[in-house]
Amino acid sequence: MEQQRDQWATKIGLILAMAGNAVGLGNFVRFPTQVAQNGGGAFMVPYFIALFFLGIPVMWIEWVAGRYGGKYGHGTLGPTYYLMARESVKPRSALWWGVISGMLAFSLTILLNSYYLHLIGWSAAYSWFSITGAYFGKNTGEFFVQYLNNHAEVMFFWGITVILLAIAVGQGVSKGIERWVKVMMPLLYIFAIIMVGYIFVLGSPVDPNWSTIDGFRFIWTPNWGYLKEHLAAVMLAATGQIFFTLSLGMGIIQNYASYLGPKDDVALSGIATVSLNEFAEVVLGGSIAIPLATAYAPKIVPPEVLAKGKTEVLSWIGHKFGLGFSYTSLPNAFVSMGEAGRLFGALWFLLLWFAGFTSAIAMYNYVVALLEEDLGIKRNVGTWVVLVIYFLAGLPVIYIDGYMDQVDAWVSFQLTLLALFDIIVAVYLFKPDNFWKELHEGAWMKVPEWYKPIILYIAPLLLMIPLLGMVKSLIGTTLEWPARIAILLMWVIGFIESYYSIKKKYGEELEKNEVIIKV
Ligand code: ALA
Repeated sequence: MEQQRDQWATKIGLILAMAGNAVGLGNFVRFPTQVAQNGGGAFMVPYFIALFFLGIPVMWIEWVAGRYGGKYGHGTLGPTYYLMARESVKPRSALWWGVISGMLAFSLTILLNSYYLHLIGWSAAYSWFSITGAYFGKNTGEFFVQYLNNHAEVMFFWGITVILLAIAVGQGVSKGIERWVKVMMPLLYIFAIIMVGYIFVLGSPVDPNWSTIDGFRFIWTPNWGYLKEHLAAVMLAATGQIFFTLSLGMGIIQNYASYLGPKDDVALSGIATVSLNEFAEVVLGGSIAIPLATAYAPKIVPPEVLAKGKTEVLSWIGHKFGLGFSYTSLPNAFVSMGEAGRLFGALWFLLLWFAGFTSAIAMYNYVVALLEEDLGIKRNVGTWVVLVIYFLAGLPVIYIDGYMDQVDAWVSFQLTLLALFDIIVAVYLFKPDNFWKELHEGAWMKVPEWYKPIILYIAPLLLMIPLLGMVKSLIGTTLEWPARIAILLMWVIGFIESYYSIKKKYGEELEKNEVIIKV
């Protein structure tokens, strides 16, 4: 009935692709930012709680859902969640679960990529600026602003990145994505390990009072006082980070899992994805930016703040940490390293580029799969259509100040919302027993029974905390018109697209309101 879908050619290729999907800018930039801004060690406690009680369950749910959709030839959320919801409710009601899930996944991918691809482009540019020493001897803050205002240069590095993505995705899943990540992921880990090795022997490069150890201490000493005082905010940040870093609530784990065979393991593979991501995040990502910034504090932090002592300095770094930090403050550390800094800086930004690229490739494939499977547009055409969509979606990021931050805040909310749909549709409407059975179909490990209530009850309850918190903070911040229009537009397009795709294939059963197609 279905035409033959592409499948992962090798197990190692699949695992590396999934790890690449998850490991991204989130691990090396967003994670240290969240740690620094949320009280260092105070952040790590809710972070691990969210990982265990939410991250792992939702990762399994998405693997199960993806493989299930793949059996019916779907790699997008609309039809997949329609099929899963159909297990409990009539097709006409299931339609809406599918449509809304599909709409959320589509709009999220486009909104996220409107800025994510620019960040990857910046990283490519800065790798080049580091190796050529372009910002050496200059004010790095001013250099960054000048770069951003040079739209031709920004678009050049964006363009190289997106064209490479289009080429890789255009070659297909097993012949394109899998081959690219098999090279890129080992290199990514090697780059990061080299950098961490260097950080471990760096000690106090500029001032005996400031060492990398201070940075490690900041991350790894639980700060209960801070946590107590800012509990809600820190939990919110930690949960948001877990979703973002594991690529959950985006539809892209399901998309990759849809290229599995019906009896391929998902249980152990899901855990392997989490483990590889967490190694890259906590061990590697946690050992670069913050220790580096702390050891070079005298070169990064203004003298008046430096004079106030360590706590003040770390808090200053925490407040400054953010997207710009990697491009404005860290380059000062590279400059202080002299010639070696060129290489170190180039490696750091290349690492960011690799990490971002291997996540962006998954999101790119989602939209291409949507065009291909739902709308019948051939892959080699679809990849270039996506490039045009991304180009248009990215324009406001260049021209409208503050747009990126607003869309980013919205994206964090929307992916948490989609994770809630994951649980409702792929566990409850699909029926918990079916879910548990699917999780163990062809599994290489048995998930302990005691973990079932965590997936069924604790995960959804815990999810309500960030979800309500985010609604509250979104109500507090006014989204400006450009962001509102973009979000609304993507919702409308996503809604129409997933409605159409479900209707197209399951029109007859929707008309009769009974299940006909079953594999
Ligand atoms: N999971 C991806 C990241 O961490 C999106 O950047």
